[in-house]
Amino acid sequence: MLVFAGRSSEELAAKVAAEGNFYPGSMERKTFPDGELYVRVCTDVENNDCTVVASVTGNDDLVDLALLLDALRDQKARTVSAVVPYLAYARQDKVFEPGEALSAKTVVKLLSALTDELATFNCHFLDESGAADYHDMRIDNLDAFTPLAEYFREKLDDPIVVAPDKGSLGYAKKAANVIGCDFEHLAKTRHSADEVSYEEKDLSVAGRDVLILDDIISTGGTIVSSAQFIRRQKPASINVGCVHGVFARGTHDLKKTVDRLVATDTIQRAESKVSVASVIAGRLEK
Ligand code: R5P
Repeated sequence: MLVFAGRSSEELAAKVAAEGNFYPGSMERKTFPDGELYVRVCTDVENNDCTVVASVTGNDDLVDLALLLDALRDQKARTVSAVVPYLAYARQDKVFEPGEALSAKTVVKLLSALTDELATFNCHFLDESGAADYHDMRIDNLDAFTPLAEYFREKLDDPIVVAPDKGSLGYAKKAANVIGCDFEHLAKTRHSADEVSYEEKDLSVAGRDVLILDDIISTGGTIVSSAQFIRRQKPASINVGCVHGVFARGTHDLKKTVDRLVATDTIQRAESKVSVASVIAGRLEK
């Protein structure tokens, strides 16, 4: 198996290759003066199974990945698969106004057309982990909450997991199981992309180490508001774990509000204390 790296996932792809004893594929990249991307596969891939580990955090990542996948096929790789730890555009998974592009479907369609297999982590439009059919396309939804929970199991004295909304209850429950503690959820109402509020609720968090888990932190509004709500009930500490640290507004407000902020490396950040490399390597070994 040859493992190639997307432009935003070089560190993670190297870890995957090391963990699974796979060969790292070599390539050349450059950007033309007008901003267009150039990709060249430098390893002989003919009749080899190739996987690209490439988070798509923005438009250039998507183009880079598409070029690389197509080049691997052109070079006669036996199979070409993509593990896209973070899949941008996945959050527009419903049409709210007539005529809106369903970006989640468009991106999956593009990547499915260029691959034999496609996997991602804790995908916004899928409720369960494992293989799923999405608009007649197959996508494998890998889970990063288990390694996140294992990380916090070692760090917290008297933990309780709190889901910031009903939608995150499933993985909060699963993480609580891994940690061996109880869990609660908050009732969130989203007023705009930036603003959320919480219904009053008594939680059993006083004097305890709260762990708020979320699949994604984008603006940080959900976590800041939920942490402020929980803080009023006097926990010993507030810890936050997320799979995808988008941090569209930076981490300043988040770090001012919570005691510990940890992300996985689906997006490489200073807060990426938990790696998903072994989950990817395990899947590729199958
Ligand atoms: C909601 O469905 C998600 O699980 C996250 O809670 C949400 O996307 C986080 O967004 P933000 O950081 O902008 O509040």
